[in-house]
Amino acid sequence: MYEKSGLPPYSAAAPELPPGRRRVMRRRPRGLKLLAFACLVFIAYAQWRQFTQLPPSSHANAKITVNGLSVKKLQEDLATCSKLRQKPQNPIGAGRDRNARYIDGHAPTLIKNATTWVGEPTEGTPPEDARKGKGYQWISADVFLEHGLVKRVESAIAASELPKDTTVFDAKGRPLTAGIIDMHSHAGVDSLPELRGNEDTNEMSDDITPYVRSIDGIQPDDHQVQIIKSGGVTTSLILPGSGNNMGGEAFVIKMATGKPDGRNETSAADMLADPDRNWRYIKMACGENPKRVYGKAGEHGPTSRLGESWRFRHAFEAASKLVREQDDWCDAAAARGVENMKDYLPSELRWESLGALLRGQVHLNTHCYTIPDLEAFVDHSNEFKFKIRAFHHAHQTYLVPEILKRAYGEDPPAAALFADNMWYKAEAYVGSEYAGKILYDNGLTPIYVSDNPVINAQHVLFEAAKAYKYGLPYHAALASVTTAPAERLGLGQRLGKIKPGFDADVVVWDSDPLSVGATPVQVWIDGTAQYEHPVELDKPAAELITPDESLAEMAEEPVVLEDVIFKGIMNLPASVNRNDPPPEHGWTLVVSKGKWACFGSCRIEAALAASSNVPVIRLRNGYLTESLTAFGSTLGLNEIDAEKDTDNGADVDVFSRGEDGLVLDGKKLRVAHKYGVTKAISAPKFTSGGTHHGTSVGFLTGAETPLEEGAVFASDVAVHYTLGLSAKRGERTPSISAAVGAFRHKLLEAARSLNETHKDQYSESAFLQGVVNGSMPLVITVHSADMIANVLKIKAEVEKATKKMIRMAIIGGAESWLLAKELAAAKVGVVLAPFQSYASTWDQRRALPGAPLTNGTAIDILLDAGVVTAIGLEEDWLVRDLGLLAGVAYKNGGGRLSENDALDLVSGNVYRMLGLKQPKVLDGHFVIHEGSPLEIGSRVKGVSDGRGVVSVFEKL
Ligand SMILES: *[C@@H]1O[C@H](CO)[C@@H](O)[C@H](O)[C@H]1NC(C)=O
Ligand SMILES: *[C@@H]1O[C@H](CO)[C@@H](O)[C@H](O)[C@H]1NC(C)=O
Ligand SMILES: *[C@@H]1O[C@H](CO)[C@@H](O)[C@H](O)[C@H]1NC(C)=O
Ligand SMILES: *[C@@H]1O[C@H](CO)[C@@H](O)[C@H](O)[C@H]1NC(C)=O
Repeated sequence: MYEKSGLPPYSAAAPELPPGRRRVMRRRPRGLKLLAFACLVFIAYAQWRQFTQLPPSSHANAKITVNGLSVKKLQEDLATCSKLRQKPQNPIGAGRDRNARYIDGHAPTLIKNATTWVGEPTEGTPPEDARKGKGYQWISADVFLEHGLVKRVESAIAASELPKDTTVFDAKGRPLTAGIIDMHSHAGVDSLPELRGNEDTNEMSDDITPYVRSIDGIQPDDHQVQIIKSGGVTTSLILPGSGNNMGGEAFVIKMATGKPDGRNETSAADMLADPDRNWRYIKMACGENPKRVYGKAGEHGPTSRLGESWRFRHAFEAASKLVREQDDWCDAAAARGVENMKDYLPSELRWESLGALLRGQVHLNTHCYTIPDLEAFVDHSNEFKFKIRAFHHAHQTYLVPEILKRAYGEDPPAAALFADNMWYKAEAYVGSEYAGKILYDNGLTPIYVSDNPVINAQHVLFEAAKAYKYGLPYHAALASVTTAPAERLGLGQRLGKIKPGFDADVVVWDSDPLSVGATPVQVWIDGTAQYEHPVELDKPAAELITPDESLAEMAEEPVVLEDVIFKGIMNLPASVNRNDPPPEHGWTLVVSKGKWACFGSCRIEAALAASSNVPVIRLRNGYLTESLTAFGSTLGLNEIDAEKDTDNGADVDVFSRGEDGLVLDGKKLRVAHKYGVTKAISAPKFTSGGTHHGTSVGFLTGAETPLEEGAVFASDVAVHYTLGLSAKRGERTPSISAAVGAFRHKLLEAARSLNETHKDQYSESAFLQGVVNGSMPLVITVHSADMIANVLKIKAEVEKATKKMIRMAIIGGAESWLLAKELAAAKVGVVLAPFQSYASTWDQRRALPGAPLTNGTAIDILLDAGVVTAIGLEEDWLVRDLGLLAGVAYKNGGGRLSENDALDLVSGNVYRMLGLKQPKVLDGHFVIHEGSPLEIGSRVKGVSDGRGVVSVFEKL
């Protein structure tokens, strides 16, 4: 049974009689007369009854009232009235003996010696201080879990005081937090790997479907549940999609299912975080999606934001009307006696959930990106008097805090965000990685979410970590995935904190949760440990982050200088070739007229420059590195994915050159440059982002026009083909086998005609000649191990024919780890894109999710086999994160990589596998960072791309 008991009965058996009967009567005049007569009789009866004051018991045995209605049903309706008017309260935490989700027989657990984040400031901290982070701290504590609850959080709990069957877990001083809460997920309804039969995210039969429920599609055995949990996520709000304006009801579930997770059964109902269902949840969406995804001009709308608002208002009006009719009925039934009612309680299943929203029983989460969307929706909230718990994908909220504060209700909606995922469509084109900080400064609440599978929810905590990097205070960043979503879900007394009375959803981490690569050592849900043999990464003892408030001082736009001095450089790339240790206060770099004037101690040069007012940038723990390179993205060929005019297009059947489509000086490229990714190597798309067809072009992300000197540093870098799932979309390649055959045929043809000269040196066959004679690399976009095997076989066959070695690399590579040895032997490089696959598509299904589930991910196995490996970008927004992704490889690599090796994954290794000369530090291509670029707290301070200037990020 799904419905909360007591709500209007909507079973098929619910009587439709009264409206039907009215309709019949209206059509027949004689019936009308009869009705008028019956009314008169009834009025007389009612008055008589009032005068005579008959006790109701005298009719107790009657089944049918004088109006011909069922007494039982009327009494049920009356009971429903009180349910309709119930105002849900946030369910209590403290005061419970046991968690309603607790399953008998599970032993208590003592987690000893944990460095614990309680989730709230020490008692007595004034709220304005707490907002600034005062009173929040990591405390050393033992945590006792029993009956699915946190029972005690104290230092040194004596085992002798605890039940005999208590399991003891030694946290060894590592960080412990409440389980992570992801307030925007489609896990279970959008199961992975993507298969049409499993896709239940959007109900597209109508634009307004508040009446559908995500729980009806949740697949408890979606393997993502396990992957997501392995990232410490214990609770998720499962929302319907945003294809229509009103998507339907949402449900909060815990990420434990079936016997192996300590549950009684494998069912969605068993996953509900609050089995008593105190609150209900609903999802709505405004803006691009409903008009683009749902609206079809001439068939059905909405086709514009104008139409969307009308649809919202129309639906809210219908629901308001139902609420009013119900209230009128309930008032009348109370005043006159329910048996005197002429009709049953009005009910309409279509508007039931919206009615409950208007009654304050449902928490509303709305997807709205842009200012007009936010403004219109806030307007609806005031017109129809309903509250908004959070705006999701709320990219532009940071621009308009005052609009949020105008929303109906006492507290403004929170903003549920990605840290830095944007640009994918027009409404996502305006966004800022500083949004969280700006919202927080304006008294609003940022919450970080995955929109799984848009972002792999396993790593939703990384979104919060990046928010910290971009200036959100440390405690607010941790709150953004724990206490803040708990509060917005109405479960703030149960979830998100480590305090007695809270649900025992607990994670012990191998490092500070906001550090790069933080990974759970163990996860408990309702007090039950989720892993019998978790893989634990080999890491140095956890060092907690000292919150760095200076991260909030952001320098968004660079100052472009020809002369500048950097002091305090402690770390260098191998190409600088310096073996002496840095002096105590680090090395100095003097840049004059865009050139290295001095590097070393440079006392005289620095003094001289300083005397002529050359700016001096003093670094704490400065890093000088090679510039980073984005290989295989759509940078330079695309600005907004969903907008054709801003995109080069896709070349399924035509082979073309990246250089011929290059468009410079866009927003993405400026961001790339700002984050030290000064070079990109991009090829035209085959079908969509992450697929390639044609030759790639190497260019500077900071250049303004292609004719600028050095703007294109390599014209036709490599020949690209795609042999992923989309390979069968070509006109002449309707199957994968046909695509592989066509690919082999092309290479063998090229091998056969090796000594022919091509009339057009830019033709596909001319480039292929370069491939088979070994002068031009061949890069294949492919994930599946089976397809990689085909590629290796074809490579060997062609090489046998030509007696020449083909230089080859793979982009994608989710399953490449299965052939790591073979790839190494064939000297084929791998660009992992995504870096950490989460099996989102069928051809990636054997991807490794990493600890605590698997011993490492693809990169570890490739590196161990000696494969030249790089980290690619599956989507362009990741350009800000290249250094951090290399950081994950470094931190979670068990010592496989040095810091410089890790940075090579996003710079040198790309060139190594392509046989291309890398423009290096001494050629004027360098980045200056404060702190290690592999760490969350680092910042880019200076960027130079060989064009004679340095972009400096510092308020001068
Ligand atoms: C779980 O199953 C056990 C044994 O069948 C039963 O005693 C217990 O009540 C069940 N608990 C829940 C929460 O369903
Ligand atoms: C807690 O763990 C740390 C790190 O292993 C250790 O140094 C310390 O002695 C432990 N404290 C207690 C009370 O066991
Ligand atoms: C993980 O694999 C490495 C080798 O790559 C091995 O040294 C280590 O012992 C393994 N760890 C576990 C927990 O299996
Ligand atoms: C290319 O070489 C093959 C044999 O290796 C020869 O038969 C053919 O005539 C040559 N073609 C040209 C255009 O020289």
